[in-house]
Amino acid sequence: MSYKIAPSVLSADFGNLQRDVEMLNSSQADWFHVDIMDGVFVPNISFGFPVLQTLKKHAKKPLDVHLMIVDPDRYIQRFADMGAHVLSVHIEACTHLHRSIQAIKAAGMKAGVAINPHTNVNQLEDVAGDMDLVCLMSVNPGFGGQSFIENTYRRIEQLRNMQSRLGVSFEIEIDGGVTLDNYRKLVDTGATVLVAGNTVFSSSQPIDTISRLKQ
Ligand code: DX5
Ligand code: ZN
Repeated sequence: MSYKIAPSVLSADFGNLQRDVEMLNSSQADWFHVDIMDGVFVPNISFGFPVLQTLKKHAKKPLDVHLMIVDPDRYIQRFADMGAHVLSVHIEACTHLHRSIQAIKAAGMKAGVAINPHTNVNQLEDVAGDMDLVCLMSVNPGFGGQSFIENTYRRIEQLRNMQSRLGVSFEIEIDGGVTLDNYRKLVDTGATVLVAGNTVFSSSQPIDTISRLKQ
């Protein structure tokens, strides 16, 4: 089963952002995971368009943008203009999720839906055929470096069951607390994209850590 690694830039050294981006360019990473936090939907503020612009300028791989913001519809076109490849919005932040997904696709991006650990994944059933990716939160969003929530394995199985029951397909991305100890079980359970922030950027050999996550 092939899967992607998406290092989270949230854990990069922002004083040396270009260096860290170039490190990822030369690694086996598949995507850049970009966490946008507004301090309202989550209790933290990360970064916005100027930083994203720098990332886009230097990154040689697709940008996987994860919006942890209220009312994300306001910014869909803006993220398309910035060159996002995947744009994920939270189910908990969208009053009209179906409309948001269609708007993301109409703007030329892949549509992702992120879902918090407490939200029942069956709530995605009626948009399952529309989404390109589910960003399954395996920590409560807001911060890098938190510990993995074990119930995530059961939620991956529920999503896999949904796919076979409905005959649809979408990427299953795991976001939060992915380590060298749990990545194999996550892939074996059905994850197709692994986000890794702390595991990659706290490593003294990040390129090597990324290749180990790909083995
Ligand atoms: C959490 C973010 C994650 C985070 C992952 O709110 O959505 O993408 O950066 O970081 P680690 O891998 O350190 O848990
Ligand atoms: Zn994320």
